[in-house]
Amino acid sequence: MTSLWLDRPDLPTYPEVPAGRSYDVVVVGGGLTGLTTALLLTRAGASVAVLEARRLGAVATGSTTGKVTLLQGSKLARIARRHSAATLRTYVEANAEGQQWLLRYCDEHDVPYQRRPDLVVAQSEEGRDAVGNVHDAAHEAHLPVEWVEDPGLPFPTFGTARLPDQAQLDTTDVVLALARDLERHGGEIFEGSRMTGLHQGSPNRVAVGELEVEADRVVLATGTPVLDRGGFFARLAPSRTHAIALDVPGPLPQVMAITGDAPFRSLRTAPTADGERLVVAGAGHPTGRAVSTRELVEGLTRWATDVFPGAVTTHVWAAQDYRGHDELPSVGPLLPRSDRVLVATGYDKWGLAMGVAAALAMSSAILESQMIWTHPLRTWRPGGLVGLDRVVTLNAGVASRLAQDKLSPRVHSSDVVPPEGQGRVERDAGRDVAVSTVDGVTRRLSATCTHLGGVVSWNDAERSWDCPLHGSRFAPDGQVLEGPATCALRAAGRGQGAP
Ligand SMILES: Cc1cc2nc3c(=O)[nH]c(=O)nc-3n(C[C@H](O)[C@H](O)[C@H](O)COP(=O)(O)OP(=O)(O)OC[C@H]3O[C@@H](n4cnc5c(N)ncnc54)[C@H](O)[C@@H]3O)c2cc1C
Ligand code: FES
Repeated sequence: MTSLWLDRPDLPTYPEVPAGRSYDVVVVGGGLTGLTTALLLTRAGASVAVLEARRLGAVATGSTTGKVTLLQGSKLARIARRHSAATLRTYVEANAEGQQWLLRYCDEHDVPYQRRPDLVVAQSEEGRDAVGNVHDAAHEAHLPVEWVEDPGLPFPTFGTARLPDQAQLDTTDVVLALARDLERHGGEIFEGSRMTGLHQGSPNRVAVGELEVEADRVVLATGTPVLDRGGFFARLAPSRTHAIALDVPGPLPQVMAITGDAPFRSLRTAPTADGERLVVAGAGHPTGRAVSTRELVEGLTRWATDVFPGAVTTHVWAAQDYRGHDELPSVGPLLPRSDRVLVATGYDKWGLAMGVAAALAMSSAILESQMIWTHPLRTWRPGGLVGLDRVVTLNAGVASRLAQDKLSPRVHSSDVVPPEGQGRVERDAGRDVAVSTVDGVTRRLSATCTHLGGVVSWNDAERSWDCPLHGSRFAPDGQVLEGPATCALRAAGRGQGAP
């Protein structure tokens, strides 16, 4: 399940962090947000280390669809529905700042990107209103959006909002350029270095398993904040989306497009050494709650090959991002009244411009004690009660899922192992046990998520255990893949978790 962007031979590797290091700033997370923040800080003379749990870009950044756009599907319409025009404009201005910085950076560092119009397209008469709302919200935000009846796509459309002159890129190109630049300025990068705890103080002590690293400031650029302090996981909804790359005979539409009504599909082209590919993403669902992710991928592939006859799939992957309870991202202090630990989260699958905007804001907060844009996107915003109804709904969903997990009947433990590529949760001596068979190896682990006790479910497309509560994901051997958990699933039958 390697993305088109990560399938390349020139990915560098970095060592694990050694004990006893001390920095001005430790940035946790080597995606776009973390690397950009780290670069901005090292350029200003700070000593900075990036601690990445897996490999640079391994999570959302390396598996995105790579559109650097201000139109962003239905996002602006959803913000407009809940917030004032001023808040909507602040969101768009922050994204514009991030987009400009990123594209200027690409120009200056020979990172290729392609300028394309971005379209939000209705696929039905009913979808026309939804796309009309997108058009109106973009107009309200002072974007030069147009209404187009026929955008010339190879499937029926019923009206389109079109924003000219947006961009698409390969995020791994950006990650590699940022990493090289960061090292050139004296920054250090460590991979395979998962933060497992933080002792706040002067200095902060970042725990990486048994080791500790000291830092005056810490930036959590981990997608969803990995520390429970601040309770961000309770204000975020994780959503996983599948993507495929295809070889298509014949010419491809030279636009970026996303549908404004179901089934939701996102399209773009991608230049590769083997010619231009089509990338299609869709089948988004709450993490850990799909009955069969394999069937979702099959549905996505069927749609793509119906619309583009003769298309052949070359890559299949998936990724997740987190939607804030009130539709807005959150950038700023982890806890109110302390600016020594900063977080950025809640990009809702539109984090390429916003992640850079967050990096600009956090580095500016650290270097100059000021945010470059103000309240609506800050973590502890004065209008934070807007959307409290949504927090309650989100957590009611989580609570009911937890109750359902505890009550639902399980398959009783048996000697019949799951077939290759399959997993199931069994009931064994009063405990939930996650049993899977992958690459001929059958493993039995505790099915209890090490974050806050959700019961994981099997993801048959990606062969992982996914938690339906806050989106932690685990490999078949129990190791953490992503999400707020920092410890592996425990071995079934043992009392203690392996960190
Ligand atoms: C399917 C999909 C398509 C998307 N398409 C677009 C698009 O077209 N345009 C757009 O603007 N946005 C898009 N996005 C969103 C965008 O890709 C993300 O918002 C953005 O990449 C987030 O970057 P990040 O650096 O904040 O997070 P990530 O890239 O997820 O980086 C976080 C890093 O932190 C590391 N980490 C986590 N926990 C720890 C720990 N305890 N210790 C150390 N490291 C840790 C992770 O391993 C990871 O590498 C898409 C998202 C998805 C899911
Ligand atoms: S991710 Fe929070 S309980 Fe599993």
